[in-house]
Amino acid sequence: MAEVNKAPETVSPDPCKGWSLESWRSKPVRQMPSYEDKAALEAVEARLGKYPPLVFAGEARRLKARLAQAGRGEAFVLQGGACAESFNEYTADIVRDTFRVLLQMAVVLTFGAKVPVVKIGRMAGQYAKPRSSDTETVNGESLPSYRGDIINGSEFTAEARVPDPRRMETAYFQSAGVMNLLRAFSNGGYANLHRVHGWNLDFVARSPMAELYQDLSNRIDETLSFIKACGLNEDSAHIDETEFYTSHEALLLPYEQALTRIDSTSGRYYDCSAHFLWIGDRTRQPDGAHVEFLRGVENPIGVKVGPSTTIDDLEQLLEILNPHDEEGRITLISRMGRTKVHEYLPPLLAAVQRTGRHVTWMCDPMHGNTTTTSAKVKTRSFEDVLAEVIGFFEVFKEAGLRPGGVHFEMTGQNVTECIGGAHRLSEDDLALRYETFCDPRLNAEQSLEMAFLLTKTLTESVDRK
Ligand code: PEP
Ligand code: CO
Repeated sequence: MAEVNKAPETVSPDPCKGWSLESWRSKPVRQMPSYEDKAALEAVEARLGKYPPLVFAGEARRLKARLAQAGRGEAFVLQGGACAESFNEYTADIVRDTFRVLLQMAVVLTFGAKVPVVKIGRMAGQYAKPRSSDTETVNGESLPSYRGDIINGSEFTAEARVPDPRRMETAYFQSAGVMNLLRAFSNGGYANLHRVHGWNLDFVARSPMAELYQDLSNRIDETLSFIKACGLNEDSAHIDETEFYTSHEALLLPYEQALTRIDSTSGRYYDCSAHFLWIGDRTRQPDGAHVEFLRGVENPIGVKVGPSTTIDDLEQLLEILNPHDEEGRITLISRMGRTKVHEYLPPLLAAVQRTGRHVTWMCDPMHGNTTTTSAKVKTRSFEDVLAEVIGFFEVFKEAGLRPGGVHFEMTGQNVTECIGGAHRLSEDDLALRYETFCDPRLNAEQSLEMAFLLTKTLTESVDRK
């Protein structure tokens, strides 16, 4: 069981050189709000520092082992969820629907590509958003940008856009509620493979994906009956439960610091706000505050790798964040865009190979493929997203390596935010149900379709070895 913060000098048997819970504060920091009410900020930090952890060190260690397997090509990671969770969308149905689509996608990938799938939600803490611009202008009026519900409000008023530290506490309690549901769904029978038919969402059942999914569910049923008929022990296969992990971008460092605890088993620091934390494309400077904070916690860490990432940056980041080359510690999340992946990824992949270091590579095909319609609506096309993942798989195939996983912005709701897919959503359809607070997400049907299409390519890239 994790304990509340103590001074690093006295408790950590292997402190990272020069690192402390506070050392990030003296580094250049980007994307951080400036809170006017310092006393309120300190009070919130102090309270959060005493609250129970949301995840446990042992769970983060288990995920690290799973990510190491994915890095070796023995498993495949499926990470997905909203671009930004919202305080207003705090209902059991919304959480269940996203969880359910992730389960469906995982089943498709597991059964089709014959690899264990490691499931990670962008859930239970994905509330802070980096922004390209500090201000947003509407009808000639400029206000500070919305930075996620943990920081300020999305309403376009000066009042809502003031960063409020109390939002961190709301985010914590809401994350605890979502986490509780996810734990119940994962272990309380909902994720039992015998229920694979029942996971179909109503509207997906009426879609072109339904037949494919029903067919797959029937084959899983048959396999389970066969296992039973052979007298093999179903219990040892853990088909009545699933491992499910949480993740978010570690952007708001006062929050992450406050949730960091010393694990009594290892004596090391773990950021107990989520199992997996990633550093965004805008905050991955090797000498910056975000890298400084994350180098001192033992969780598995993701780093977004975009077209502006240099080989030198990447080598430095691997050295700083993983000096002992621990397997499973680092996941590099490539987000190049469909037109750039073939050009930008191979040199970075080769450079990492040359270092001989262990990393797990994933593809985020969302953030390099955002476009704006003539009506100024942010969208992504299903086709571009698919093309980037296929391009990513091709790069790995050419290098004789196996890809480690995929990262999607998606939801279990029947939204209309990305164009294309089996229902051929068009730009005109976007207005029907455009609900995201930040980036456009694949809806449930598009997500499931993506899983079916990727399975084929993945099977080819895995069979090759
Ligand atoms: C994100 O994952 O929501 C995000 C902002 O990504 P990136 O840092 O890659 O732009
Ligand atoms: Co996003």
